[in-house]
Amino acid sequence: MTDQMRPTIDIIGRDEINDLEAIMSVINTDGDERLHSVHSVYDTVFTWDYEKGKRPKLDKLYEKAKKAQWNGQTDLPWEIEVDQEKVVAANAVANGGFNEGIDLSGTSIASWGDKEWLEFGVESQNWTLSQFMHGEQGALVCTAKIVESVPWIDAKYYAATQVVDEARHVEVFSKYLDDKLSGHYPINAHLRMLLDDIIADKRWDMTYLGMQIMVEGLALAAFGFMHQMTTEPLLKQLLRYVMSDESRHVAFGVLSLQEYYAELSAAEIRERQEFAFEAAVRMRDRFLQQEVWDRMGANPKEIVPLLLQVPERQTFQTLLFSKIVPNCKKLGLLDAADGWLRTKFTEMGAIAFEDWADTGEEYEELQATGSEAVA
Ligand SMILES: [Fe+2]
Ligand SMILES: [Fe+2]
Repeated sequence: MTDQMRPTIDIIGRDEINDLEAIMSVINTDGDERLHSVHSVYDTVFTWDYEKGKRPKLDKLYEKAKKAQWNGQTDLPWEIEVDQEKVVAANAVANGGFNEGIDLSGTSIASWGDKEWLEFGVESQNWTLSQFMHGEQGALVCTAKIVESVPWIDAKYYAATQVVDEARHVEVFSKYLDDKLSGHYPINAHLRMLLDDIIADKRWDMTYLGMQIMVEGLALAAFGFMHQMTTEPLLKQLLRYVMSDESRHVAFGVLSLQEYYAELSAAEIRERQEFAFEAAVRMRDRFLQQEVWDRMGANPKEIVPLLLQVPERQTFQTLLFSKIVPNCKKLGLLDAADGWLRTKFTEMGAIAFEDWADTGEEYEELQATGSEAVA
């Protein structure tokens, strides 16, 4: 195995995972781009084996998904008025203040008062929800591709329900941004790079690994975090509904790949480990919010390193991996190839989650509350 090891720079484009300078030099310079094409050559697969329920767990998920549908236009309390500045201020009070107690003396934003921090909070929320929306569109196209490329009828059926779910997610995040917040941000360059890589890969299981396990695993954790933190009731409910769908999506990835990975060779598994690592790094890189600092007239290269030293920020960054790590473990990705991925997740400070519940098991719990909420 060891002779096949690719150096880190070949996988993520830099030698050091934490090279901030390199991370922040990757920026989206096409802010006005309207359409973005990614070329992909892959097989669309028909199956003539229509036997439903051959994969009972996927079949069960499909039956659940049909019952758990909700309508983004009529099932959420859109009549709730959102005063974004008030919400941002209330969230800050509830969650420990604006600048997280960082010592900013000597920096270009040392003189920021409540007004600037409030403005930053507003921009930060616009940015966060915009990235969620772009990620949801990534899920929409990836899952449509899975409908075409996966060889199993139970998986095609289930994926078809997820396509509808993702359309609804794009729709509700977009509506929330337009009706309740105050501006959109273009897609973050790290997130776009990851979505491009996932959609360009011709192997159907890589779509699952990139989207259902990595992107959606992180989304499930991030939505859960925001659901807990926000004081705004409409967003809270929106996130709760989306999370009940997302937990099914991640479970779909775990249940499908478990079967498929059992047949792969060690070299093939190793490629999946590298892809999982690349995805993890891209997603962590995207959370630096460099575009927001930029828009606020502050230099991200000056501020971001200070932010990253704040313990709460570090906790947040690692919590994002609380679903991904146990799911990778369940799939056998952590310990294959001499524990290569375990070492990488350890370097990223995320290995502590390995024994947390995996989503193949816990989705029913999230579902139960979700359907009650939907009912
Ligand atoms: Fe989604
Ligand atoms: Fe999803």
